[in-house]
Amino acid sequence: MRVIIEPDYERLSQWAANYIAKRMREHERKGETRPFVLGLPTGSSPIGTYRELVKLCKSGYISFRNVVTFNMDEYAGLPREHEQSYWTFMHRHLFDLIDIPTENINILDGMAEDTAAECQRFEEKIESYGGIDLFLGGIGADGHIAFNEPFSSLTSRTREKTLTFDTKLMNSRFFGGNISAVPSKALTVGVGTVMDAKEVMILVNGHNKARALRHTVEGGVSQSWTCSALQMHKRAIIVCDEDACDELKVGTYRFFKDIEQAHLDPATL
Ligand code: GLP
Repeated sequence: MRVIIEPDYERLSQWAANYIAKRMREHERKGETRPFVLGLPTGSSPIGTYRELVKLCKSGYISFRNVVTFNMDEYAGLPREHEQSYWTFMHRHLFDLIDIPTENINILDGMAEDTAAECQRFEEKIESYGGIDLFLGGIGADGHIAFNEPFSSLTSRTREKTLTFDTKLMNSRFFGGNISAVPSKALTVGVGTVMDAKEVMILVNGHNKARALRHTVEGGVSQSWTCSALQMHKRAIIVCDEDACDELKVGTYRFFKDIEQAHLDPATL
C-alpha cells in the first residue's frame, strides 16, 4: 500500500487528479484501442479532484473521449433527476464539464424494478471492458468504501445494501438535515468489485476520517472496517491530508513521508 500525505485538501486533490491524468495519458500513449476504464465515487472528498480533472481537460492536457466510467453507487428509489441523486452529482461536478461521450458513462439505476438484475448487468458490463483500470474512491467515517457498510463481506459484489444509521446521519447534511429524507437503501459495487480493479486510489481528508485512516493503514484486515481490505490489493494508493493523519502512529507517518520523499513525486506534471 502506498500512502501519500499532502498538506491540505487542495494539494491532495491536485495530486490525485495529476495521477489519474498520468495514467490516462500512459494508456493513450500505449496506443490501446480499448478505453481507459475509470471507477468513480461521489461525496465531498472527490469534488476537488474533479475540479482539477476538469481544468486538465479544458486545457487539452487530457481527454475523456476514450474513457469509460463506472460509478460506485447510487441511492435506491431516487430518480436520477433528483437533486441528491449520484447521477445529478456526477453530471454537475464532472460529466457536464468534460468531453466524455454520454454512452461511456455507467451509473447504477436506483429506480430499477429488479435490482438484482441491474447489479448483475453492471458487473457484466465492467467485465465486458476487461475490468476497471483505476478505481477512485472516498471513505466513510466508519471506514466504508462505496456503500459497503461495516460487516459487508470483503468478497461482496454489486448489490443492494441497507444503509446504517451512521451513514444516513452523515448524509442527511445533503437532505436539509432530515434523516428520514435520506434513502434507506442503495445499490453499490462490492468490496470484491473494487478489489478487482487493477489499481485503487482512495481519498481521505479531514480529521473526521482519522480513525478510518488508522484502520485502513495500521489495523488488521477486518469486515468491520471494509476499507482495510485494501491491504490485500497489489496496487492501492491512499491520498490523505495532514488532518486525516491525526491518529496514525508517529512511526507510520514518518515511514510514508520518508519513502515518498525518496521516490520524489512521480505524479507531478
Ligand atoms: C457516501 C458514499 C461513499 C463516500 C462517503 C464519504 O457514503 N457512498 O462513496 O466515500 O459517502 O463521503 P464524503 O466524501 O462526503 O465524506
